[in-house]
Amino acid sequence: MAREFAELTLRDQTVQLPVVVGTEGEVGIDISSLRRDSGAITLDYGFMNTGSCASSITFLDGEQGILRHRGYPIEELAEKLTFIEVAYLLVNGSIPNADEFEEWSSLLNRHSMIHEDMRRFFYYYPEHAHPMAILSAMVVSLSTFYPELSQHRPDEPEEHIDKAATRLISKLRTIAAFSYKKSVGQPFVYPRHDLRYCANFLNMMFSSPIHDYEIRPEIVKALNTLLILHADHEQNCSTATVRLVGSARVNLYAAVASGICALWGPLHGGANQMVIEMLEEIQRGGGNVRTAIERAKSKQNEFRLYGFGHRVYKSYDPRAKIIKRACDDVLKVLNTTDPLLDIAMELEAAALQDPYFVDRQLYPNVDFYSGIIYRAIGIPKEMFTVLFALGRLPGWIAQWKEAREDPKAKIQRPRQVYVGPTLRHLDASVKGGDVVSVEDSGGRVPN
Ligand code: SDX
Repeated sequence: MAREFAELTLRDQTVQLPVVVGTEGEVGIDISSLRRDSGAITLDYGFMNTGSCASSITFLDGEQGILRHRGYPIEELAEKLTFIEVAYLLVNGSIPNADEFEEWSSLLNRHSMIHEDMRRFFYYYPEHAHPMAILSAMVVSLSTFYPELSQHRPDEPEEHIDKAATRLISKLRTIAAFSYKKSVGQPFVYPRHDLRYCANFLNMMFSSPIHDYEIRPEIVKALNTLLILHADHEQNCSTATVRLVGSARVNLYAAVASGICALWGPLHGGANQMVIEMLEEIQRGGGNVRTAIERAKSKQNEFRLYGFGHRVYKSYDPRAKIIKRACDDVLKVLNTTDPLLDIAMELEAAALQDPYFVDRQLYPNVDFYSGIIYRAIGIPKEMFTVLFALGRLPGWIAQWKEAREDPKAKIQRPRQVYVGPTLRHLDASVKGGDVVSVEDSGGRVPN
């Protein structure tokens, strides 16, 4: 029962709206009764001020640059846990003990292969097919091979959900690696039961019948860190998509396939590929970061400084700080440098001194440095958003699961304010077109 209310007065009417306060002190005004009591709706482009749910999974504080999963700071999770342990924490709400971790790992191993018929799908994509298109299509196709979840029933046995979750986490990694092999025309490398999640992925990506990839612990650690940093981020565009599509009671695979499509966008997860393309363009132009800065500030074009800015973080994205450190570590371990890293650091320094970015509180986000690490590992830029999806998958699953268990959850169907033509009727002279044969347009109203 709400103890606090907000009052809204519209014309000659005042309505009382219950106030919801979260465990971190966040304040939400529950407007569920607004239209019933006042006849009005709210209008909030981009949902910048609108919450879609109450959630216990991830807490962000954009002003302080705080990110926690189930109460644990991202810095501790990235330093101390593996990606699979963080995936378990997100999906099940607690850090797995030894038995739970072994059960989770064996489920992941058991489900790491894809049906041989699905493997054949790859042969019919053009070689330049973007792997995000393949990923989304293959994920929704999983529901045809594993129909037990297709009838998204509220009474679905818990073990069905766990099986589908581990199946998806494991198979997405295999599909991702196969889409890379397809793009380079190499034979697929199958998952191995003696390798953990990230080592398995690297092996499937870079081993071949004539080359055994050297699995280096430092690179495996860096990949674990990157996937942990992408694992969940409250109600971002792709997660909101998974919840919205899931609210129609589709199965988990269909909801996640929709999230993959949303993540592909250059304003969202696709930005990590755009960052590298932006840095390569600066490099080709002689390395002058000023040009990019001025282009990003101009309203005469669509260009933005990719990897900069964030809807929630109005200070440095805590993930970007960790990734920047991991960048330096990976380049040192590999005893290599990347000229694009130098350009990125120069670009960051110039932007953070420019009033346009400072006034708008635009800082590097999770995508700004991640591509440098992926490049150093040997992952092509077309695969960067695929890696983002691999990391984000446990978050999508956890959010989809939380929504289906939420007694207050309903099918998501926003309202609108109509601004089109008011009532009008067809002119008597208008004669509709023939629905069968093509004839001259005589008798129709001229354009
Ligand atoms: C992710 O939501 C999440 O949590 C996402 C994510 C996750 O983990 O799921 O963190 C992952 O998607 C990170 C963001 C990746 N996208 C990019 O790096 C693309 C570049 N960034 C921008 O497009 C933008 O900053 C967004 C999309 C990230 C946020 O956009 P908002 O919140 O809608 O902000 P806005 O467009 O209203 O910008 C406010 C002002 C505008 O200028 P004015 O109208 O005030 O003059 O800032 C400007 C914008 O033009 N601006 C930028 C800019 N970002 C914002 N100008 C130049 N370059 C930029 N990058």
